[in-house]
Amino acid sequence: MKEAQPRTIFLKDYKKPPFLIDETVLHFDLNEKNAIVRSRLDVRRNPDADSRPKDLYLDGVELELNSVAVDGVLLNKGQYEELSEGLKVLDVADTFVLECETLIRPQENTCLEGLYKSSSMFCTQCEAEGFRRITYYLDRPDVMSRFKTTICADNSLYPVLLSNGNETDKGDLDNGRHFVTWEDPFRKPCYLFALVAGNLLNIDDQYTTMTGRKVDLRMFVEPQNKDKCEHALNSLKASMKWDEEVYGREYDLDIFMIVAVDDFNMGAMENKGLNIFNSSCVLAKPDTATDATYQRIEAIVAHEYFHNWSGNRVTCRDWFQLSLKEGFTVFRDAEFSADMNSRTVKRIEDVNLLRTAQFAEDAGPMSHPVRPASFIEISNFYTLTIYEKGAEVVGMIHRLLGAELFRKGSDLYFERHDGQAVTTDDFIQAMQDASGKDLTQFKRWYDIAGTPVIDVDYSYDKSAQTFTLTLKQSCPSSNAGDAVEPFHIPFAFALLDSNGCNIPLIQQDDAVFANAPTELVLDFVEQEQTFVFQHIEKTPVPSLLRGFSAPVRLKETHSRDQLLFLMSNETDGFNRWDAGQKLAVDIIRSMSEDYIKGEPLSVDSRLIEAYRGLLISKSIDKALLSKMLLLPSESYLIELSEVANVDAIHHARNFVRDTLANQLKPELMQCYHDNSDLDVPYSADFTSIARRSLKNTALALLLSAGDPDALALAESQYANAENMTDQSASLIALVNSDFSEQREAALKSFYARWSKDPQVVEQWLSIQCGSPKYGTLENVKSLMSHEAFDIKNPNKVRSVIGAFCNQSLVNFHMASGAGYEFLADNVIKLNTLNPQIASRLVTPLTRWKKFDQDRQALMQGQLKRILGEESLSKDVYEVVSKSIK
Ligand code: TRP
Ligand code: ZN
Repeated sequence: MKEAQPRTIFLKDYKKPPFLIDETVLHFDLNEKNAIVRSRLDVRRNPDADSRPKDLYLDGVELELNSVAVDGVLLNKGQYEELSEGLKVLDVADTFVLECETLIRPQENTCLEGLYKSSSMFCTQCEAEGFRRITYYLDRPDVMSRFKTTICADNSLYPVLLSNGNETDKGDLDNGRHFVTWEDPFRKPCYLFALVAGNLLNIDDQYTTMTGRKVDLRMFVEPQNKDKCEHALNSLKASMKWDEEVYGREYDLDIFMIVAVDDFNMGAMENKGLNIFNSSCVLAKPDTATDATYQRIEAIVAHEYFHNWSGNRVTCRDWFQLSLKEGFTVFRDAEFSADMNSRTVKRIEDVNLLRTAQFAEDAGPMSHPVRPASFIEISNFYTLTIYEKGAEVVGMIHRLLGAELFRKGSDLYFERHDGQAVTTDDFIQAMQDASGKDLTQFKRWYDIAGTPVIDVDYSYDKSAQTFTLTLKQSCPSSNAGDAVEPFHIPFAFALLDSNGCNIPLIQQDDAVFANAPTELVLDFVEQEQTFVFQHIEKTPVPSLLRGFSAPVRLKETHSRDQLLFLMSNETDGFNRWDAGQKLAVDIIRSMSEDYIKGEPLSVDSRLIEAYRGLLISKSIDKALLSKMLLLPSESYLIELSEVANVDAIHHARNFVRDTLANQLKPELMQCYHDNSDLDVPYSADFTSIARRSLKNTALALLLSAGDPDALALAESQYANAENMTDQSASLIALVNSDFSEQREAALKSFYARWSKDPQVVEQWLSIQCGSPKYGTLENVKSLMSHEAFDIKNPNKVRSVIGAFCNQSLVNFHMASGAGYEFLADNVIKLNTLNPQIASRLVTPLTRWKKFDQDRQALMQGQLKRILGEESLSKDVYEVVSKSIK
């Protein structure tokens, strides 16, 4: 793709921009074969720059330059140089107006960066470095400019023409064309620029801000989707209100627009005043979207909206600071979701993702700190580490400071840096200045890669009535050598008595007895640190790392009996769930060893009784119960293994699942029926979601064990479902069952009913390809020649290839290596079409370290085959070259 040798960019080489662009005036002529872009940039030298170069260098990729002029005078060939990825304007003055005309080909753009076409509309994606595919520019986030954009296009094909800010002019032109001009009053980096043109409908709403300003909310969709906007608009209003209440942040323009597009590399993009969404992350109605989709939409709409402050008003100085906006914004959206739904369930979901996928990333070849020190292709760093671990780091600051001081810190941060492009150090500094807490040691979290490990040791001294807790930390880090200095770890801790009550925690020198806390956030700052608690009358059970207060691996010390106790008595909801997970992990792991040895399998009856207890409990919260009934996933079990035997894990886990189903049939049936009397119409409130989830978990358990009564329930649920949650849950249960005739019939009727709805078709594809039972390589390959598949559409690629490689693990890891070869074939194909998608897709092959020697060799072989390809994109090159031993 790129002729230039892949070059590594280092944070330490950061230099202030030598030139600034005060004003950017853009003019787009959108045509059926190409687009003509004219730009007028008010350029001046940056008075704070470190150097004074003679020439102006601008970024530009795959642009055809028609003309370039300075101060109204066309330049001739000797006055500028066209470079492979840029333009050099020679010998420039201190202040001047630069005008360029370039030709681009959106219709041929399959990488979905810059300006491209998605079905019949034009749209843009500029983060991180897509703007340089539109026109020559200083494409870096610390160059902030005021944008004025005029779009000209055919009136009948593209009646709607959008860009950032406010509409300031419009009119008709010759030849059935028209134009609209938009002006954004806020200075912004070009990665926040957006343009949309199409035949779109708008669904409108309004929001009154805390100071009484009326904001128009306008969602643009293709006509067939007009009944899928309500949930996103409700989520948007809820986010706007929440950001006012929790952060004191108000929206700043008079209009906020959301556009849904079908072809999109990621979930959504926070372009100023004009958020663009992947259709699958914004469109919903009850009969086509599941509960999970409803919740994802709520979270993503909030995430993009929150970026207006954490990202847009205060932006990043350079892309090494990406987590400044992403980590903080994920923290903000997670808190929002927790407030809107069940806080415990939200925490469980987030920690599950972190421990399964981020920990794996951090133990793999692409491991990097929250603030990376270098990269080849920035698109490769939109990772779980930047987003999820970045959010954990902000969450730890929140825990260390408390809500009030954290708010003081965020107020200071927004006030101090409004309109600026800043660094994670600036964020920490604001938190430190506002709170008076020293965060020097804490900053290590930003710069050291790897997941810290905590060893726990504790003892109870009956005669002294003391409980002693000793914590030791270490970190297998890829970038800090052997001498990793200790992290500042907030370690939330409690002691439970035999009734499950929290015991007052009195540390050695505490004088006051009466108001002793029952939960402490211990400041764990040394390599090894001991905490002693006084006046403990009986042997307690410790509750460790409550709420998962830090992103670490805790070396477990609880016995199975202690875990059973915690499963029913923990007062911390997250830890209660986690106790169940730990018990199940322990049991499944020892059963996989039995499986490998060829010994008969049996399930520790204490697990079955614990599940029975949960199912018949009258007091447990349904949202929590619905999570507790799910066994740890195969991916998580693999992540926890030194060397993972996928077949053994799969069989042991299935054996536990089937045993639970067989032994708990009456309780599961009861659970199904107790939770299937939901009122219609559909509601996506979290109590209804929890009940549907409970019912469907019970159904899936029963059906996977081959229960014929469950088959009848599944078939009738499939036929009568009033919403997509119930319909797809019954389909999933059938697909994962042995009832092949019924499964085929359901798959067929589902497609017949929904073939015109891309979001539902994506689910239909991923249900099949992600099923260990049905997602065989043969089925996946045949789905790739199905009319529903389109390799140019990222959602389809994720639903088919992504689902197979990440979820149908026994098939992907089949001993022949055919799964690996299939993935490599498709990575190679996508490398030329869409490098971002190709390089994300390749991830499972980079996890070779987890598997046996034979599989390692096969996976490495495929990575080497990819690396041997000619014209490898920077994206794929970086991931693959770093993954080869
Ligand atoms: N800033 C976006 C978000 O997190 C991420 C994003 C959207 C993105 N589209 C992208 C990143 C394309 C890289 C490439 O909300
Ligand atoms: Zn984001």
